[in-house]
Amino acid sequence: MTLQTQTLPYLDPSLPVADRVADLLSRMTVEEKIGQMLQLDARDDLDDHILRRHAGSILHTSPERIIRARELTLETRLGIPLIVGEDCIHGHSFWPGATIYPTQLGMAASWDAGLAEKVARATAEEVAITGIHWTFSPVLCIARDLRWGRVNETFGEDPFLIGELASAMVRGYQGEGLDDPTAILATAKHFAGYSETQGGRDASEGDLSRRKLRSWFLPPFERVAREGCRTFMLGYQSTDGVPITVNDWLLSDVLRGEWGYTGTLITDWDNVGRMVWEQHVQPDYTHAAAAAVRAGNDMVMNTPDFFEGALDAVAKGLLPKDAFDAAVTRILTLKFELGLFEDPRLPGDVDAVVGKAAHAELNLEVARRSIVLLENDGTLPLRPAAPGGPLRPAAPGGTPAAPAGPPSAPLRVAVIGPLADDAQEQLGDWAGGSGQAGWLDEQPRAMITTVLDGLRAVDGFSVSTARGADIVTFENDAEALNPVPWDRAFTPAAADPDQIAEATALAAASDVVVVVVGDRVELYGEGRSTATLELVGGQNALLDALIATGKPVIVVLLASKPLVLPASVSQAAAVIWAANPGMQGGRALAELLTGAIEPSGRLPISFARHAGQQPTYYNQIRGQHGHRYADLTQAPAWAFGDGLSYTTVEYSDLTAAVVGDVVIADVTVTNTGNRPVRETVQVYVRDEVTSVSWADRELKAYRQVDLAPGESQRVRIEIPVAECTIVDAAGERIVEAGEFSLLVGPSSRVETLLKASFVLG
Ligand code: NOJ
Repeated sequence: MTLQTQTLPYLDPSLPVADRVADLLSRMTVEEKIGQMLQLDARDDLDDHILRRHAGSILHTSPERIIRARELTLETRLGIPLIVGEDCIHGHSFWPGATIYPTQLGMAASWDAGLAEKVARATAEEVAITGIHWTFSPVLCIARDLRWGRVNETFGEDPFLIGELASAMVRGYQGEGLDDPTAILATAKHFAGYSETQGGRDASEGDLSRRKLRSWFLPPFERVAREGCRTFMLGYQSTDGVPITVNDWLLSDVLRGEWGYTGTLITDWDNVGRMVWEQHVQPDYTHAAAAAVRAGNDMVMNTPDFFEGALDAVAKGLLPKDAFDAAVTRILTLKFELGLFEDPRLPGDVDAVVGKAAHAELNLEVARRSIVLLENDGTLPLRPAAPGGPLRPAAPGGTPAAPAGPPSAPLRVAVIGPLADDAQEQLGDWAGGSGQAGWLDEQPRAMITTVLDGLRAVDGFSVSTARGADIVTFENDAEALNPVPWDRAFTPAAADPDQIAEATALAAASDVVVVVVGDRVELYGEGRSTATLELVGGQNALLDALIATGKPVIVVLLASKPLVLPASVSQAAAVIWAANPGMQGGRALAELLTGAIEPSGRLPISFARHAGQQPTYYNQIRGQHGHRYADLTQAPAWAFGDGLSYTTVEYSDLTAAVVGDVVIADVTVTNTGNRPVRETVQVYVRDEVTSVSWADRELKAYRQVDLAPGESQRVRIEIPVAECTIVDAAGERIVEAGEFSLLVGPSSRVETLLKASFVLG
């Protein structure tokens, strides 16, 4: 059937949105309303989704399926346009030729909200032109146990930093308003507490008190709710026995009630079905659908049987016929505000926008800013031309020692490791080859610069390469691992003596070794948590062997999340973490290794020395017996906020003063070395005595300052008194009178921080 007439009120763009919604709602059958609440997988039977189940939304849509879905919509009685969603997590993940940026965790290492906003804006442009209206990004989960497979999708471990970066991304996606054709809907996910896993196991029960939720897990969500993030996705897990999808306290009392949130709620993938077949808290789809509707869910992601379940719930009197009106009103409001009834926003001039040069430039800048230099004995930066002999380290903060004799031969650089030239792995999860989409295997190789590509392009380098080790071996046998359905089965690779011999021979014939190790997508992501944090396969043996050659070894860790490096790495010349740095990662790394840029990344997450130290986040609650394990320190290998520059920076003369409603910190920051620096000045607050136990210190502000060699700046940072809070025993967030310490410096580690006291009365 086709549309009846152009004069129906809901089709009249001159009417207010609320009137159009009311008119359309009044024309809908119960079946059409229930269908409107469904978001279904476009890879399945589109005809059935749209024509029989009246789906209001689809996700995971290949370029071709978007057009087909639109044709089907035009065959429906009311012609309600679809809203199309996709996981565009760090770029337009599954669009061939789209710009893929560093992962969220990589981006977080820039500590630069402005940059994150630009990435989201550029992503929105690429997404919108392809006919997609909604991204399931950003992730606001707080990284806790590093074994969790989805740490790479987070902004790290600190609620304040997460709030800064997430709200910037929401602004970027949603642009100037939904009527802007380049605006897309942002999603704050996964609300809330999903990352508080048991032993890192994905979507296991989140063992959280309401007070703990209010203390650390909810504040980033509250922030984006108040800033107008249009949609929230509800996590998979249950907390205190209740799946988030039906958690009335969280959804009604807190989100809708206290925060006054009027946006749209979407479940995660089959949350409604999971209550039946996974969590066993509902007897069947009828009861599960009724519970989900009563709890206030608006859109139900990929539970096709919600349709029959909800109809049955009405037939059995579990739900009244108008039970769906509030949810459908919210969904239709989004569609009208996006202008989809006038323009369904089908794919436009994709080639002019997707993967365009300006986005590649931005991508390079983000990659540069996301790399964290963790260790450097002075070998870095490498000099493009060397005197033939081995490199001589400089004093910390100085330039490399002048070579003896005239410059002659190019620097012989051995680029080794299973990730040195693996273009697709460099992109990480939710990207071309990561498996969730099904219609593309990889992003174009020509768009990606690997570390090997980047170093080969350096004038004055003579680059040779060897693989050195494998990470996994793909198998067909039943013993092989295959944690998620879309993975090829694999087993960890054994160290290969021949590969190692080739690599060490190459190292021996070189001036410096750059070894690129890390993880690969079979070892992280949804459903792919790890029991350990060590490098998998032959990588540890490779590192041990290379370091034993006595050559300067620069370890480049391309790892989705913090991993544990072998003891031999304490003898490495330098250690760099680059997360999954995206398409421009190899070029950015080459620039950093050669000193064409200054390292400025700072860790948004702590690195453990051993998986048994979990959790290692810095802002833990005070109070325990002792301060170490009997067999190991509790100190992380590298802590939140850590990161080196090619120069040295000193902090001095910290003062703190309370002026009205603001705590004012002044500190002198001096570049005491020979190279410029972008320093991230970090400000932590410690409440000395609290009425209930609390974190020892929390990040409350930071500022990035650029200092030329020798330059000093007096840096002022203001923190509202209202931010110096704890959550008390009754669950109220309050400022308690008493003594506080302001801790200012280059990292969360106490020994690096200056301290000044202030009192709040
Ligand atoms: C499940 C994931 O948990 C969520 O983050 C994602 O947005 C949806 N699937 C859709 O792909």
